[in-house]
Amino acid sequence: MIRVKLMIGLILASIIVIAGCGKEEKREVKTDTKSVAKELSAQQLFDTKCGICHWQQMPEKPVAPPVFNVKRRYLMQYPSEQEFTDAVVNWVENPEHEKALLRGAVERFNVMPKLGYTAKEVRKIANYIYRTDFPMPKGMKHHNEHGRGGMGRMGKQLK
Ligand code: HEC
Repeated sequence: MIRVKLMIGLILASIIVIAGCGKEEKREVKTDTKSVAKELSAQQLFDTKCGICHWQQMPEKPVAPPVFNVKRRYLMQYPSEQEFTDAVVNWVENPEHEKALLRGAVERFNVMPKLGYTAKEVRKIANYIYRTDFPMPKGMKHHNEHGRGGMGRMGKQLK
């Protein structure tokens, strides 16, 4: 009799443990998916609306400077998240030759076209750019932090 009670006790205990674990796991997975989904949509916005031109891996025929250069140059001028985001939004809404910071890139690629994305989207993208650590494209050197030019300072031209 004692053994039976013990067995029942053990079974109950393990059910509780298993049920408890299950719950715990579910909760974790849920929050994870949520944050990933949020992250993805900003990333997808960037990839489809900016990343097609502002590359991360050197395309055969670049049409714009890499996002790495754009971000580095903007961070120099606008170090806080608020300033940075505002400046990028402001630029995308109204790109003008005279106010471009990436002088070398403007000369090489001409001024960025006006794209007509919604301010809300662009703000989300700008914030994503600020928060994301884009790796330096291959061929660029670490100590080159002056960032005055865009593409002019890339690859073989860097010594
Ligand atoms: C059709 C290609 C193209 C797309 C799409 C594009 N850009 Fe650009 N962008 C350029 C080119 C070319 C330049 C470099 C010349 C210049 O600075 O105007 C540039 C420059 C920039 C600069 C630096 C401007 C400066 O001060 O010189 C920022 C910031 C920027 N882009 C942000 C974005 C963001 C954010 C998006 C997506 C919403 C985006 N771009 C989409 C082509 C593009």
